[in-house]
Amino acid sequence: MPVPLFDTSTPLAPLRAEIDAAIAGVVDSAKFILGPEVGAFEREFAAYCGAGHAIGVANGTDALTIALRALGVGPGDEVVVPSFTFYASAEAIPPTGARPVFCDIDPETFCVTPESVRAALTPRTKAVIVVHLFGNVAPVAEIEALGVPVIEDAAQAAGSTTPAGRPGALGSLATFSFFPSKNLGGFGDGGAITTSDDELAERVRMLRFHGSRDKVTYEHIGYNSRLDELQAAILRVQLPHLDGWADGRRAAGRHYEEAGLGELVALPVPTDGAQPAWHLYVVRSERADDVAAALREAGHGHKVYYRTPVHEQPAMREYAGDAELPGTAEAARTHLAIPMSPVLSAEQAAEVTETVRALDLAVR
Ligand SMILES: Cc1ncc(COP(=O)(O)O)c(C=O)c1O
Repeated sequence: MPVPLFDTSTPLAPLRAEIDAAIAGVVDSAKFILGPEVGAFEREFAAYCGAGHAIGVANGTDALTIALRALGVGPGDEVVVPSFTFYASAEAIPPTGARPVFCDIDPETFCVTPESVRAALTPRTKAVIVVHLFGNVAPVAEIEALGVPVIEDAAQAAGSTTPAGRPGALGSLATFSFFPSKNLGGFGDGGAITTSDDELAERVRMLRFHGSRDKVTYEHIGYNSRLDELQAAILRVQLPHLDGWADGRRAAGRHYEEAGLGELVALPVPTDGAQPAWHLYVVRSERADDVAAALREAGHGHKVYYRTPVHEQPAMREYAGDAELPGTAEAARTHLAIPMSPVLSAEQAAEVTETVRALDLAVR
């Protein structure tokens, strides 16, 4: 049986009646923007993350730009960001007036390291964006110890945990996306910023609403960027299930390990102590194209996400400089996402693994 790349429908099916009721509640209330559902979701999501505040915004890209602005990032500043990530992680920087400076990743974890960030720091560095890529968790404390504020791009890491806490509570600020396919996904666009710093939270709240506290006085050039009531109501139904889904994602990873996939391709390696809620399960192989072709032939889902890293994208050329990013290049060349979801069974993991095994890969 073909195994899909991801499955967002099966986990949501048992929640259908509750979601319908939540939507109906918002329609009946006729409050669609910054009403009680957003307020309640912000409190519940902050508590879930272990952060003092969560502030809903329109999407994960705005979340990054607003988080940077809240930190005071502006023209003349540099922001360190990995190149092996979704384009938006870096795209969010130039609208603040600052320049992205690209740093390398460890291809085994797909995350930045203290060393790769240190190599990109200059006196103009105002902030570092670390990306908890594919649900793995970058080493935030070690990077913040370098003396620059860290923004966690946690778009892909809702549900992951570490001994030091969850993404969302590890850096100065963190940003989330609730794009429908994410670990916690709405039925449209949505995002949030978390922080435990009261002043930063206040600034974020103003920035998402035209730079105003009261719609009378406008203190900043801000944004019209709000999570809407319908999305918040839908996310509130899902949030209590996020940990269970995260457990399902971790179990799916174990199914691949137990099926012996690690003998055939390089499996993703959790960073020290992290328990990733794998958003995507991304393996590496020098024969990634052959693995992809075999999976395609068998009807199994697979996808290459970031073959051209961000610093090589046309719009980023002016920022790319002469960055040498060998880990990025290796990950870009060899990565391949294979099926992952909270409900991926041992049988499905075994089917995917046997398809790869049939290729008779002598080496990874
Ligand atoms: C790592 C990362 N950063 C940022 C974003 C941007 O989020 P959004 O699509 O909600 O703007 C995404 C997801 O799309 C992402 O995967």
